[in-house]
Amino acid sequence: MTKKITLRRPDDWHLHVRDDAVLKAVLPYTAEHFARAIIMPNLTPPVVRYQEATSYRARIKSIATATGWPSFEPLMTLYLTETSDPKNVRSGFESEAVVAAKLYPAGATTNSDAGVQKIEKIYPVLETMQEMGMPLLIHGEVVDSSIDIFDREAAFIERTLIKLVDRFPELPIVLEHITTVDGVDFVRGASNKVAATITPHHLVINRNAMLVGGIQPHYYCLPVAKRESHRAALVQAAVSGSRKFFLGTDSAPHTLDSKESSCGCAGIFNVPVALSVLAHIFEAADALDKLEGFCSVNGAEFYRLPLNEDSLTLVKSDTPVPFSDLIFTENGEIKVFDPMFDLYWSIEEQIR
Ligand code: NCD
Ligand code: ZN
Repeated sequence: MTKKITLRRPDDWHLHVRDDAVLKAVLPYTAEHFARAIIMPNLTPPVVRYQEATSYRARIKSIATATGWPSFEPLMTLYLTETSDPKNVRSGFESEAVVAAKLYPAGATTNSDAGVQKIEKIYPVLETMQEMGMPLLIHGEVVDSSIDIFDREAAFIERTLIKLVDRFPELPIVLEHITTVDGVDFVRGASNKVAATITPHHLVINRNAMLVGGIQPHYYCLPVAKRESHRAALVQAAVSGSRKFFLGTDSAPHTLDSKESSCGCAGIFNVPVALSVLAHIFEAADALDKLEGFCSVNGAEFYRLPLNEDSLTLVKSDTPVPFSDLIFTENGEIKVFDPMFDLYWSIEEQIR
């Protein structure tokens, strides 16, 4: 018997679409299924002022429209630097040009060099954001050569996040792409101002995927996947039905030449399979009824945005569904995330 599940149309609360040729190639994979996405600002140069976010949004909208998805809504974010101007952040949020701002500890990940070294330097911006209720999105890893890369999320919580939440108790905070039981526990125990995104790939892989049988660059992302017990804690959080956890794919396209290199880039491009993978994981946990909350409700409620009105149906077939392994861009090919198991769920085509 065919199994189906219909959800409110999902949103992606953490997405990298890049710019130019790559934007053109990757955006339709998001826009065909997701109503909205939080667009990460780590371009080169980064999106620091709201006027830059407005022109980036126009580029995204024009590609969405040209590829047949004019209703796709990019939700723009600002990249915080130590010299970010609170007035500019205020105008951006009040005029609805941007919905959130992202804190990258300097050096933590791709294009984060302009990020923040001393968190106190951005306190004036955080005051403004707290006053307006503007969410702060955090890449939660310390940058410290004495801290093991597998411990950097836990260390960030200990050293920075606990203090930050204490200092700004009314500031909405999203701890992005959590990868550890420490992240899960922290968010669970915090006030309802604190939430977290979880990626499809961190629900599927542990660090073996990246390191066993040779270095596997296509499973390398930041924060890096951790040991199996952490993955299991992430699955439990995602399927728990808690409103504090929601989908952020962190789909982060890099061309093959930049992944398969002596110094490969961090990032996994997962959007084409994200919803199929999630249905698989939620079904295996006997929690398909929690999938809609995770993909389509919890994030919108946290951001205080209306829920999407239309829907999307996932269908389970008896035989594995084929997905493309690579997508093509004018800059080179991009590998699609391979969960290393067969996928049976796919999205029923709909006329919109
Ligand atoms: C992201 C990228 O490539 O922009 N990479 C990643 O591994 N997730 C940056 C980020 O979100 O850390
Ligand atoms: Zn990201």
